[in-house]
Amino acid sequence: MGFSKDFLWGGAVAANQVEGGVLEDGRGLSNIDVLPFGEDRLAVQKGEKEMLDWQDDYYYPAKEAIDMYHHYKEDIKLFAEMGFKVFRMSLSWSRIFPTGEDTEPNEAGLNFYDEVFDELNKYGIEPLVTIAHFDVPISLIKKYGGWKNRKLIEIYLNYAKTVLNRYKGKVRYWLTINEINVLVHQPFVGGGIVFEKKDNRQEIIYQAAHHQLVASALVTKAAHDIDKNNLVGCMLAGGSHYPYTCRPEDYQEAINRDREGYFFIDIQARGKYPNYALKKFEREKLNIIMGPQDEEILAASPVDFVTFSYYCSRTVSAHPEDSEKATGNIIPSIKNDYLKSSEWGWQIDPLGLRNSLNQLYDRYQKPLFVVENGLGAIDQPDETGFIDDEYRIEYLREHVKAMNDAIEIDGVELLGYTSWGCIDLIAASTGQMSKRYGYIYVDRDDKGNGTLERSKKKSFYWYKQVISSNGENLDSENISIGKKEVKV
Ligand code: BG6
Repeated sequence: MGFSKDFLWGGAVAANQVEGGVLEDGRGLSNIDVLPFGEDRLAVQKGEKEMLDWQDDYYYPAKEAIDMYHHYKEDIKLFAEMGFKVFRMSLSWSRIFPTGEDTEPNEAGLNFYDEVFDELNKYGIEPLVTIAHFDVPISLIKKYGGWKNRKLIEIYLNYAKTVLNRYKGKVRYWLTINEINVLVHQPFVGGGIVFEKKDNRQEIIYQAAHHQLVASALVTKAAHDIDKNNLVGCMLAGGSHYPYTCRPEDYQEAINRDREGYFFIDIQARGKYPNYALKKFEREKLNIIMGPQDEEILAASPVDFVTFSYYCSRTVSAHPEDSEKATGNIIPSIKNDYLKSSEWGWQIDPLGLRNSLNQLYDRYQKPLFVVENGLGAIDQPDETGFIDDEYRIEYLREHVKAMNDAIEIDGVELLGYTSWGCIDLIAASTGQMSKRYGYIYVDRDDKGNGTLERSKKKSFYWYKQVISSNGENLDSENISIGKKEVKV
């Protein structure tokens, strides 16, 4: 088998999608808290509709989420029971700096994460911490327009230094910004950006990207200065693009679309702007303002490892109008006839994961980490309340095999795997609870009804076996399911 004995198996979540407790203990509001459920959500995510406060007519799923703020001990115990070696989580920026610019951080917020890290440590689970996962304090959006303003670099750096110092010795693995390329597709989610009519949107997006890239490099440097044991990663919304046909124009389109994402990682991993991006700015007359030291800052602090999320591959054509669109992806795709889709139209492609691992490894020659992967599906409890999610196991099994092949056959260096939504949580794209990824079921529906009680799905027992066999036993026929322990 390919997995090394210290391979980091675990699961991943993000603060805004699990914690709830949005105004407790001095926390401020952040961009994801104000994403409404329902048809206006997408326009808000894209920065096309301004919603910077809660409004009476809407339901906001992040307000309570799955209330991990109060359930973290119970949840971590369940992760430990599965044998997690690592738990990927994010810090809520506005829990620590409620307005983003407070002179002192919020001690209650810092203390909450101290307790979470101590709890993880009790079970020998290593935290992998995303400093900003789709997270910009609302006050910074109201005052500065989010990441389009250079001021955010200094504010984010101050936040990052605060947590790097505070959690020194407790956290070793850090990610600077989640799915940094989502900024291009959902600027409000990725950068707290709301457009005005007159705006040159591309210019604003790439200006904000520049600020995030400089900030990320400064945080990487700070992390290394604060503790030489720190390892810092970047994070790409992954999944390569296939050409719809072997027409050279389609292949060219696939290269270009891959570059939309690689653009960020090229800079974070190699320390400089790629020529294709500089040419794009020139061609499209995008005036990106860079500070005199920025080039040096980017060059000085490339990341230590490259992480990415992988749910599906994408297919593109030079003539997309001739083909059927796939539904549900933040990053658009047309339908690939060779692949099956999830209930949300995401095209399932385990071999695509192996190919992505190879592409990223060839390109960057840095250790990789798959920090998100999973199947969003509707779970139906049986008459005893148990969820037999064989469909989820099947998806995960094929992706684990693909990682194994990438390591064993292709020689890719892979540090670990944290499957997404190891406990059911709020879907980022739709705000649904019914789009479930978890090994652990949470009793809550799309409207916020339910007891929030946790229970183990079949996949819980399967993943436990995967971890204890270090990825060797992927079989789901003979797993021992302690049905009696399952509470629903
Ligand atoms: C990634 C995000 O885009 O995909 C997560 O980093 C998100 O926050 C995940 O939840 C799955 O997407 P969704 O929309 O199904 O939650």
